[in-house]
Amino acid sequence: MFLFDVYPLFDIAIDHGKGCRVWDTDGCEYLDLYGGHAVISVGHCHPHYVEAMTAQLGKLGFYSNSVINPLQKEFARRLGKACGYEDYQLFLINSGAEANENALKLASFHNGRTRVLSLERAFHGRTSLAVEATANPKIIAPINANHHVTYLPLNDLEPWRREIEKGDVCAVIIECIQGVGGIRMASAEFMQGLRRLCDATDTVLICDEIQCGYGRSGKFFAHQHLGIRPDLITVAKGIANGFPMSALLISPKFKPVFGQLGTTFGGNHLACAGALAVLDIIEQEHLIDNAAEVGSYLMSRLQAEALPHVVDVRGRGLMIGIELDVPYKDFRTRLVKEQHVFTGCSGTNTLRLLPPLTLTKADADEFVQKLKAVLTDNQ
Ligand SMILES: Cc1ncc(COP(=O)(O)O)c(C=O)c1O
Repeated sequence: MFLFDVYPLFDIAIDHGKGCRVWDTDGCEYLDLYGGHAVISVGHCHPHYVEAMTAQLGKLGFYSNSVINPLQKEFARRLGKACGYEDYQLFLINSGAEANENALKLASFHNGRTRVLSLERAFHGRTSLAVEATANPKIIAPINANHHVTYLPLNDLEPWRREIEKGDVCAVIIECIQGVGGIRMASAEFMQGLRRLCDATDTVLICDEIQCGYGRSGKFFAHQHLGIRPDLITVAKGIANGFPMSALLISPKFKPVFGQLGTTFGGNHLACAGALAVLDIIEQEHLIDNAAEVGSYLMSRLQAEALPHVVDVRGRGLMIGIELDVPYKDFRTRLVKEQHVFTGCSGTNTLRLLPPLTLTKADADEFVQKLKAVLTDNQ
């Protein structure tokens, strides 16, 4: 059997990792400014994480959601405290798309409506509703094109007001820092305006914190820079440092109904052990403060260098976009092949940095020097 060939791949196989570094099967070391797509939050193979996962696997890897799972309760308590949402409720699933799918379902169960407002350039995942809320016609199959979603511009409240005031909008779904969309940030004024409009019309405000959340922006959630509290918050990626897990944080105004949501794998014992270890490390190593500090250091260094081809550096914490005046493709490939640095990308011209939250200032300096080498060499 062959693999279904949907991924454009670098011709590299990663064999092992430690902290912000990975090594390929030939033993070549790479600086990881990509974090396996924003997934590696506490660094590759953190000893506390490895120990917690190994111990749990030796005890019980999985049992179903038909019995009490004390690890889920402990994780809910710890997460509520860590992110400042102790009065919210937690539903655990397995991927980002699944978290958004359940958020949109819950919103629709709540107010009985079916229309969704989403941002231009949004990315919310690839399952049925999540992909429909994603502003990319190339990945919306005809079976998903069910006309639930209207896409509107970022930071321009008027068109949102016109739609929301019709009173038939089920939910607004927003990434406060767009990832795939190119590190574009919602303003406080815009989000506070949306919050007021949603409150006035019983529209559900969903923040997709799958990429920008879990400490990456220098606060636990990116929306916490903007002075709002969403009704539903979705998280995934860094939550268990690479073990598949996601979560939906649910405001007290939603009342649970037995059987309305459910999953086989969601919140299993191994996932919870990983997620608890991640919270331990985030707290013990002050990784959210580190993301804020090293992120602003890196951004200011990138801005101060006045690098050729760089027309904008934007972001928050360790979620940084470097926009070029030419396509990133050759530079990104040369970063990997010649400088041994992994980065992400957005659109055609933006390099996207999503490193582990353990990145140091020395790592940041090394990256700036390596980026400079490829950009300068190609003026
Ligand atoms: C903002 C955002 N939402 C949702 C998703 C989908 O997550 P998953 O690939 O785990 O389904 C992603 C993945 O990149 C994302 O960046």
